[in-house]
Amino acid sequence: MSASGTFGYGVDEAQKVDITKLGAVICKGIFLKPRDGNPQPRLVETPAGMLNSIGLQGVGIDKLISDYAPVWGKWDTPVIVNICGESADEYTEIAKRLDEVDGVSGLEVNISCPNLHKGGMEFGTDPQVAAQITSNVKAATSLPVMVKLTPNAPDIVSVARAVADAGADALSLINTIVGMAIDVVKQKPVLPNGIGGLSGPAIKPIALAIVYKVAKSVDIPIIGVGGISSANDALEFILAGASAVQIGTAGMINPDIFGQIVNGIQTYMQKTGTADISELVGKAGLR
Ligand SMILES: Cc1cc2nc3c(=O)[nH]c(=O)nc-3n(C[C@H](O)[C@H](O)[C@H](O)COP(=O)(O)O)c2cc1C
Repeated sequence: MSASGTFGYGVDEAQKVDITKLGAVICKGIFLKPRDGNPQPRLVETPAGMLNSIGLQGVGIDKLISDYAPVWGKWDTPVIVNICGESADEYTEIAKRLDEVDGVSGLEVNISCPNLHKGGMEFGTDPQVAAQITSNVKAATSLPVMVKLTPNAPDIVSVARAVADAGADALSLINTIVGMAIDVVKQKPVLPNGIGGLSGPAIKPIALAIVYKVAKSVDIPIIGVGGISSANDALEFILAGASAVQIGTAGMINPDIFGQIVNGIQTYMQKTGTADISELVGKAGLR
């Protein structure tokens, strides 16, 4: 799958990427209203990744339904909408609006964005709040609901358990890790908000360890995300317990990466005599 926020709404991206290779397209996070996001600069390169502070720029739910969903409805690749809220009620409202919209195949609940003053990550650090939002969204929709968690929670395993108990169909692990960069000439943070979210290869070992730990604690499928840049990386996540993976930063660098990873996994399966990918899920752990 394409990771949310790194693949827009998929429509422009589908010109460059063969989306039939993807299990799903996950679109940029959406609020009820359009948002401009944070001031520039919003991206900073780091030695093994990238810091971003987009602030969830987006077109709002009305335009998503009127302009993008009809295009998605013509695709064979399912589209999952990443939903955001400044309040718990906003998640519920968006879930209701998207229920039975042709072209929308699932929801990814973003309670993990580090770039917001209100909402986002603060909902994903407390197990009770995360569970409440999950059960509200589940009650508001007939679509499959996956919940995307933040590694910045003090105890992500407790959040994962609470969200699973509240009825989530799957978990996506992980969103970006809080980080920053400082311009020593200006003697100020490079990103206007000071902090941002770190993604890319730098976070892969952290994401992998979280998938491994959470996979032992919950029974619902896990979608691994964080620094995956090769078939080998994807296989590590699957062996740690992920049933599927998302590619974010690596796809912004190389749009061919999606097909390359799928081909690489197929080659590995042939070499290892693996008939079904599910045979590999959690094989390196206790699951
Ligand atoms: C530019 C950018 C924008 C992002 N926007 C979102 C978003 O809207 N919603 C969300 O849940 N995650 C968002 N993320 C997090 C990614 O989906 C992903 O969890 C994270 O980047 C780690 O994966 P990666 O290392 O493969 O990029 C964003 C990441 C980047 C780099």
